[in-house]
Formats: sequence, C-alpha cells, structure tokens
Amino acid sequence: MSRIKLCLKSLITQKMPSLLTFLLIGSCIASSLAEVTCPDGFTLVDGRKCLFATSSIGWHEYIAKECKSMGARLVSIKSEEDNDVVGVFAFNSGCYSYWIGVYCFSDNGNTTCYNDDYSGPITFSYWAPIYPKNSTDRRDFGQGVYADSYWNGGEYWRTSSSYKNQLLKQGICEAPTTIADPSCKYNYNGYCYIPSHEIPGVTTNSTTYPKAQAICRSLNANMVSIHSKLENDYIQSIYQDIRVYQITLGAQAFQPHVFNWVDGSSFDYSHRDPFDNFTGNCLEMNPWDGLWTEINCQVFNYFLCQRKIGDKLENLRLEGPKTSHIDLSDSSGCNGTIVLAPGTVTSFGYGTSPLPDTYCLWRVATLGSDRVAVYFTEMEIGDTLYIEVYHGKWDITFNGTYSYGTYIAPGNTAILSHDSDKDTKLKGFKGVIMAY
Ligand SMILES: *[C@@H]1O[C@H](CO)[C@@H](O)[C@H](O)[C@H]1NC(C)=O
Ligand SMILES: *[C@@H]1O[C@H](CO)[C@@H](O)[C@H](O)[C@H]1NC(C)=O
Ligand SMILES: *[C@@H]1O[C@H](CO)[C@@H](O)[C@H](O)[C@H]1NC(C)=O
Ligand SMILES: *[C@@H]1O[C@H](CO)[C@@H](O)[C@H](O)[C@H]1NC(C)=O
Ligand SMILES: *[C@@H]1O[C@H](CO)[C@@H](O)[C@H](O)[C@H]1NC(C)=O
Ligand SMILES: *[C@@H]1O[C@H](CO)[C@@H](O)[C@H](O)[C@H]1NC(C)=O
Repeated sequence: MSRIKLCLKSLITQKMPSLLTFLLIGSCIASSLAEVTCPDGFTLVDGRKCLFATSSIGWHEYIAKECKSMGARLVSIKSEEDNDVVGVFAFNSGCYSYWIGVYCFSDNGNTTCYNDDYSGPITFSYWAPIYPKNSTDRRDFGQGVYADSYWNGGEYWRTSSSYKNQLLKQGICEAPTTIADPSCKYNYNGYCYIPSHEIPGVTTNSTTYPKAQAICRSLNANMVSIHSKLENDYIQSIYQDIRVYQITLGAQAFQPHVFNWVDGSSFDYSHRDPFDNFTGNCLEMNPWDGLWTEINCQVFNYFLCQRKIGDKLENLRLEGPKTSHIDLSDSSGCNGTIVLAPGTVTSFGYGTSPLPDTYCLWRVATLGSDRVAVYFTEMEIGDTLYIEVYHGKWDITFNGTYSYGTYIAPGNTAILSHDSDKDTKLKGFKGVIMAY
C-alpha cells in the first residue's frame, strides 16, 4: 500500500477534529511527495516507479546484468497503467524496443510466463498477436520478453528465444523507491547502508561480531539483515570497487545452522553457499559471489551497518521482491520438466548402486534478471557431463571426479546432458541450482 493511502487510512480511522484532520492530510501528502525518491541515475515516474533506460543494446542477459549492477532489475509491469507509464518513459528516453521483467518457459508446446520478482506466473500481459511463441524443441525452452514503446509498436510484448537467434534490445531497469536522506551515501529501498570502512572516526575497518554490532548501534543502526536477492545484489554492488572478500552479516545462530537476524526482522531469505560445511554462530557474505558461509563470531571481518530511514514512520516498510520457490520439476529429474532455482538436480539413479546406464538431459533455469548457477556438491562420473546454453555450442564440460565444481551460466537457462554408461561403479553427480 502506498504511503499516502496509509496516511489517509490512519486519518479516516481516527475520528479527529476537522481542522486537525485538514492539517494532517496536508502534512501527509506533503511529506510523501517530498520524501519518495530514487537511487542516483533513476527517474521517479508516476510517483512510484524508479526507472532507467539503458543506452546499450544487447541480448537479454547483458541488459539484465546492466540493471543488476545498479541494484535494479528489468522493469516490473503488472497492469495496463504500468505498461503505459513504462512505454511513455521509454519513448521519451529514446528507447523504442526494450527487455522487460517477464520471462517465459516453453515445455512441450506449452508456454508459461513469470514475473522476474518470483511473484509467480504473470497476471497481466499485453501480447502482440501470435505471442508468446510456443517452442516444441526441448532445448529451446527459455524466452526473454521485450516490448515496443507506444509510438513504435503500441507497447505490445513479444518473446525472443534465448537459445537460437536471440534479439538485441535496450532495456528498462527498475530500482525500488526510497526516502530522501542527504546524510546517506548508500540509500536503498528505505534503508541507509554504512560500510565499516567508511564510518567516520572508526579507525579499524574490521572487527569481531560483538564489536561490529556495538559500532552499528552507536550509529543508530544494526548490522545488516538481507531479505531478497535484490538486496543481496545491491550489497554486492557497494563493494564492487574495493577488494573485500568477507563481510560479517547481522545474524546469529540460536541452533546449529539456524539463524536469526539481530535487528529482529524475520529470516525469510537465504543465500547460503552450498559448499559450506563449517559450523559457526555467525554468518559472513563474500561480496564477490554474494554467497553466505558460517563463521566463528570472533573472526575479524569488514561489516555493514543498516539504518532505517524515516524512523518515525513505523508503518512504512518498502520491500524489494521476495524470492519464493516455484517448483516446475518432476520427481525423476532426468528428461523431466524445468528445474527452476532454488532446486537440485541429481544424476539418474543417484544414491543407488550400481547406477543405471542411461542418457539424460536436465534443464535448469532462473527467472529473468538473474543468471542460473549450478554448484556441483558431488561429482563422480566416468564420462562427460556437458552443459549447453546456446544452440550448437558446449559451454563447459565436466569429466572425472571433482570435490566440487561450479558453473555459472551467462543467462537464465542451461542444459545439462550426461550418459552414465561409465558411472555404474561411481556415485554420480548432485548439483544445487541457485540464482546468481
Ligand atoms: C501448461 O503449464 C501450466 C503451468 O505449468 C499448467 O498449469 C498447464 O496445465 C499446462 N498445460 C498443458 C496443456 O500442458
Ligand atoms: C501455444 O500453445 C497453447 C497451448 O497448446 C495454445 O493455446 C496457443 O494458442 C499456442 N500459441 C501459439 C502462438 O501458437
Ligand atoms: C580502511 O579501508 C579504507 C578503504 O579501503 C582504506 O582507505 C583505509 O586505509 C582502511 N583503514 C585501515 C585502518 O585499514
Ligand atoms: C569442507 O569442504 C572443503 C572443500 O570445500 C574440504 O576441503 C574439507 O575437507 C571439508 N571439511 C569437512 C569437515 O568436510
Ligand atoms: C531420455 O531421453 C533420451 C533421448 O530422448 C533417451 O534416449 C533416454 O532413454 C531417456 N532417459 C530416460 C531415463 O528415460
Ligand atoms: C572422460 O573420462 C573417461 C575416463 O577417464 C574417458 O574414458 C573418456 O574418454 C573421457 N571423455 C572425454 C570426452 O574426454
């Protein structure tokens, strides 16, 4: 709900003398309009969307990456009003054809499209005739979605294969709105982020968890809590120009491997490293890959404080899109439907011995603005595991025995294929699928 609505709602429910009501309505509206703002480089459109038109033209995955590097995503369009607002903004920005935050999967000629923010299948669409296209080619299952601006093509949406002949387009990126605070350098989604190496008067950049939290408290903040992939990406972007390999997060374990955030918010999102086998009472993030691992709380690390902006407005909590699980997989895995991150793929018959001898193909994916990553926590195979992303080209192969291996696809989709003819006496493989 918007702040103006919240403000008005609280006024309506409190029967107040009319003059006071009048004054309060005035201050509600004035403060809402004055304070809602966008991160640098973004334009506030319609008082509610922070938009940016890329000047570069590229494949869906390159433009999505450009949005992400700014703490943004491809634009979310969930109503006709959104579609119009974005179409007009695009046109005024000299952007006539642009990727949007919708991504489609075709399986067996049935195409389903999803919002990039993991809120589920789209409920609004504006397809041009014959779109979305259905593919019956098993390998050609992922499709980016682009729109044309009002004057160029009437804001209609079309799909473009990510496997064959992908089109080149600009993009419209969207970041969450925030509240103006001139004293804050990293102002995002209603919070101010304060990295330890930029705290005035603090002479050590790294310290233990208890000392770090005490420093954050002295700034009227807490150590950071993270509630979405979007926020995780934003935090990575804060550290993109400095060589920091670990930052301690504001979390503590109350049971082995079960954490609470120190600021009291719910632990509703996790980006744990699948290879992490350590038991510790604290969590750190590697800003380079965004993964979280357990550590001892006495470890000296850089840290990040987080302060809510506009503390007096208790009702206001601006949130980025949440990651929730959408399960498209079937139980067999091999030759099955699409495994959407977060999920797991295992070789056929994994856990049985001897392993059956068969050829299998697995399709893995993430939604629009993220890339798909496969973390192989088990890899004991006798013949090659192929990973393919574009038509007719192996992107990487794994062969033999690895303690671990990681594959990060350039875009949303990847195809794994493997013949287990030489695996019968081996363990097979297990891959954890995550958004990157
Ligand atoms: C198409 O996919 C949707 C979503 O997975 C599913 O609900 C629907 O039954 C499928 N339709 C056909 C014809 O397979
Ligand atoms: C795609 O397939 C669905 C279900 O089989 C069908 O209803 C739809 O008309 C098809 N779309 C196109 C463009 O062929
Ligand atoms: C803290 O980090 C900043 C930025 O990297 C650096 O300029 C400064 O020298 C560091 N201070 C200490 C005490 O390490
Ligand atoms: C933890 O994983 C690392 C490799 O990621 C491995 O070298 C180490 O032996 C593992 N430790 C335990 C206790 O399993
Ligand atoms: C998977 O599909 C391939 C080729 O379509 C087929 O040869 C293989 O037997 C299938 N595997 C299983 C376990 O059904
Ligand atoms: C993979 O490794 C096995 C065993 O070392 C070998 O027989 C096979 O030829 C290798 N395959 C490729 C494609 O390198």
